[in-house]
Amino acid sequence: MDKKTFYWGASTSAFQVEGGYGEGGKGIATTDVRKIPEGIADSKIASDHYHHLKEDILLMKDLGITLYRFSFNWTRIMGDGYEENQAGINFYNQLIDLCLENGITPFPTLYHFEMPQKYVDDFSGWQSRKCVDLFVKYAEICFRHFGDRVKNWGTINEQLIVSAATDLNGNHEANPDLKMKNMYQMSYHMSLAEKKTIKVFREIVKDGKIGPICSMQVIYPESSSPKDILAARNAQDFLQNCFLDMSVFGQFPTSYSNYLKNKGWYPDYDEEDIKVLKNNRPDFIGINYYCSTCVRALEDGEDNSQLPPFYRNELFTLGNNPYLTKTKWMEFGIDPEGLYIGMRDIYERYGLPMIVTENGLAFSDVLEGGEVHDHYRIDYFEQHINQCTRLITEGYPVWGYCPWSLIDLVSSHQGFKKRYGLIYVDRTDEDVRECRRIPKDSYYWYQRRIKLKD
Ligand code: BG6
Repeated sequence: MDKKTFYWGASTSAFQVEGGYGEGGKGIATTDVRKIPEGIADSKIASDHYHHLKEDILLMKDLGITLYRFSFNWTRIMGDGYEENQAGINFYNQLIDLCLENGITPFPTLYHFEMPQKYVDDFSGWQSRKCVDLFVKYAEICFRHFGDRVKNWGTINEQLIVSAATDLNGNHEANPDLKMKNMYQMSYHMSLAEKKTIKVFREIVKDGKIGPICSMQVIYPESSSPKDILAARNAQDFLQNCFLDMSVFGQFPTSYSNYLKNKGWYPDYDEEDIKVLKNNRPDFIGINYYCSTCVRALEDGEDNSQLPPFYRNELFTLGNNPYLTKTKWMEFGIDPEGLYIGMRDIYERYGLPMIVTENGLAFSDVLEGGEVHDHYRIDYFEQHINQCTRLITEGYPVWGYCPWSLIDLVSSHQGFKKRYGLIYVDRTDEDVRECRRIPKDSYYWYQRRIKLKD
């Protein structure tokens, strides 16, 4: 990335926006077969970006963005997972070339939640080291085909989520203890795959930059009680440091290692992995941020088995932050200053440049007389962009900002009821219609904001 240029971008991910199910040799992904509750849209059509590619890129151009953060569907590049699929490569060549022709820097992420279902069926996906090799093979194919024109790359999007979400990774183990062990093993394999991928990247895209895309965790203790303070530190280690320490330093935080060893959940590894992990550092860190998290110490006998797997331990549990405004879809609260706090901490720990790869507000937008008046989203963006300006003014290296999302897309678990886009897609969960594109008020606001530049 050119440090002199601040990238005003926008983000999507392939399985949430593309559609094009089964077209052009696309294989079956975990996200195609997962069980979706009745009345929620799946990824088969999504926002139909696959058939609206040119129109969407012209909308990006009119918006004035200089960077498009998207992801490759692993199953469009690799079909069922073992051989490259030329039609899929052609589709992304077209996407990349259209971006470049329109002055937009393409910024793909290799792995954004979607992967070949065949790997889950054949060898339990990331539970096996086979998945590490296949990921590196897939990444190498991408680097060879696109690395001449694409210089900025993301590796894994939100390892925290993708290692825990069983519908995305196929960890359907019934025994709860074994399921947790699998989660940590899968995450370890993802870290190893990331490092091996960076090694290959350096050989192929010599002038490129690559980095992980983290789900930034801004953790507050619910009170100033030492127990809650410790809970917050533990949460920071378990929800963020365990991934980024691996990405950057090639090692786990000590408290995390100790806990996993005590539980019998420490991942299996080979001695020769250590060198690969310690080397092959990334060039930057991608920051996904929606809200902060408040935690507290667990009470005696408290049951947390219903929480997402990464909260299922004795070290911390979810608390409540009374200082933040909460909404239906932003149940942890809206916290712009958290963006500043979290990015400052990440820079102090890792010393790497950062780019905001996702930041957005979910809302059930309403189309009224052909317009969407999403002033709530404009407020959210304005407040968060102000925090980026604050970071830059204070000397922190922030290279760009990408709202989530460019366009309405299938939310990771709530379909189209919950929308994030700058551009409205005229469809509902039940009725696909024509997927007509309608820029929202936030689109025009962002267009003006980009023109201001500073
Ligand atoms: C991030 C993901 O976790 O948050 C996106 O990278 C996702 O893929 C976004 O869509 C918002 O989450 P959700 O669950 O509201 O779609």
